[in-house]
Amino acid sequence: MLWYLAGALLLMIVLRKAQLRLVLSLAKHGSLSGHARIARFIARRVPHYEFDDGRFFSADDAPAEVAARRRAGFEQLAALYTERYPKGAALTREVEDALSDLQFTARYRVPFQFSARVRRQLRGGAFLQSSAQTTVTDLDGNRFFDLSGSYGMNLFGYDFYKECIERGSAAVRDLGPVLGQYHPVIAYNVRRLREISGLAEVSLHMSGTEAVMQAVRLARYHTGRRYLVRFCGAYHGWWGDVQPGVGNPVAAERTYTLKDMDPASLRVLRMRRDIACVLVNPLQAMHPNSSAPADSGLMNARHPAGVGRAAYAQWLRQLRQVCSERNIVLIFDEVFVGFRLAPGGAQEYFGVRADMVTYGKTVGGGLPIGVVCGRAELMKRYSEERPADICFARGTFNSHPYVMGAMHEFLRRLESEPIRSIYRDLDAVWEQRARQLNERLRAEQLPLQVSHLSSIWTVNYLQPSRYHWMFQYYLRAEGLALSWVGTARLIFSLNYTDADFAAVAERVLSAARAMRRDGWWWPGAALSEKAIRRRVLRELLQAWWATSSIGSRSSPRSRYSGARQ
Ligand SMILES: Cc1ncc(COP(=O)(O)O)c(C=O)c1O
Repeated sequence: MLWYLAGALLLMIVLRKAQLRLVLSLAKHGSLSGHARIARFIARRVPHYEFDDGRFFSADDAPAEVAARRRAGFEQLAALYTERYPKGAALTREVEDALSDLQFTARYRVPFQFSARVRRQLRGGAFLQSSAQTTVTDLDGNRFFDLSGSYGMNLFGYDFYKECIERGSAAVRDLGPVLGQYHPVIAYNVRRLREISGLAEVSLHMSGTEAVMQAVRLARYHTGRRYLVRFCGAYHGWWGDVQPGVGNPVAAERTYTLKDMDPASLRVLRMRRDIACVLVNPLQAMHPNSSAPADSGLMNARHPAGVGRAAYAQWLRQLRQVCSERNIVLIFDEVFVGFRLAPGGAQEYFGVRADMVTYGKTVGGGLPIGVVCGRAELMKRYSEERPADICFARGTFNSHPYVMGAMHEFLRRLESEPIRSIYRDLDAVWEQRARQLNERLRAEQLPLQVSHLSSIWTVNYLQPSRYHWMFQYYLRAEGLALSWVGTARLIFSLNYTDADFAAVAERVLSAARAMRRDGWWWPGAALSEKAIRRRVLRELLQAWWATSSIGSRSSPRSRYSGARQ
């Protein structure tokens, strides 16, 4: 009898585990971003290959006439870059071999098959000498409208941040760089952050990545559960646990990556007992389930993918409900979108409250920052009942007086009328600008459109092509500065006037006309998205075959050949 009972119990446990496993599998997105291990496995095996001189201009089998037009356009652009950016290019050449970060960003601006030649011939230079309002100026004196947004930090124009830094520095100068104790400006900062977030406690860090780490660590500490849930494609900084796929050399063992905006994911949250927190990056409303696009991966069309404010708000409400029911900590990662969508951030914009919110980028008033705001019972790093059980978090520079000074100025100005007035009709302003630009692009039958979440924009390409990434170089030639992800992210500061925007729109149109004139958007008869995908796959297999058959069979993981002699 006892054996039967034990057997039945065991069977129930096994069946329950199988059910949980199945429900989890059903909540994985079908793309590679939804399958971190497979994505890493494949990424490690993608072989390098480059196009030779001829193939560079006819990777899509364009006829000789089109390839010749492309070549002429490329050479012309290269000559213009050489003439316009000599000092910047020289200094970049001088440091690039020793500056790992620069090597990385330079290499991944365009698809790798094209990268070497582009780096050799289209040298824009990685240096700037000054900024003012919506513009930046390079070492050679060229002024650009800045569409990089300094990774999203620049919300109100560069002069605004210079003033925050200057006034903030003046306010804390007497204390200087003393760490470990606080400058009094922090009291105001904490009060304002509590008001803005609607949450009881605040902790201060040095970057957005660190803020996310701390929020997750606290959620694990207080719930006693190990797993964090993130949604497919969402970026939360470069800490390993939030980057389980390509980019992280080891597996993230305590992360579930689920489908965004899908009932299957809600089912997982309802059924599992090991989930500490759900991390949401509200920017994903622009492209749920896919990573932030980058021109380095742009080998085909790029389609608009946004779901709109109302649909995403509805999803957040569903998440809120299930997290409350299951005592799962709901964390909004507002490092990027906080303050950009509304003065009260994504919580205000989508009308949903989180248990914890992370902020970063702009809230430092131009200096490095990460902030966690949370409910009091979640923010405690110790237990009243068990004093040895702590959740340790410190950081040498975490309340640096100069950062606190600049933040103080930022938060103070946020309350001022000029800034408050910027937020009025914010969505309508950017909606109208995007619509107007799209209408003009359509009127000229140019094969691109923009989509956006307020002031964060993406360029979409409506027809298949292997050369859309070239567009970033035409935009630069027109005096528009983009970040290393190229046309994937155009980030406007909110102080762009209608006149500034009109000038940007003119330049976008002019760059697009030049791109078409030079043949990069040749609409070949057999050029379908599927055909391009097939062709890239064939190239990869050929390259893989070539590298494996000439005997370079070393493990893709063992690139390091030995210690320093
Ligand atoms: C949503 C989000 N979280 C976290 C981070 C990481 O912030 P940081 O680069 O300051 O470490 C970023 C950076 O882009 C971000 O966009």
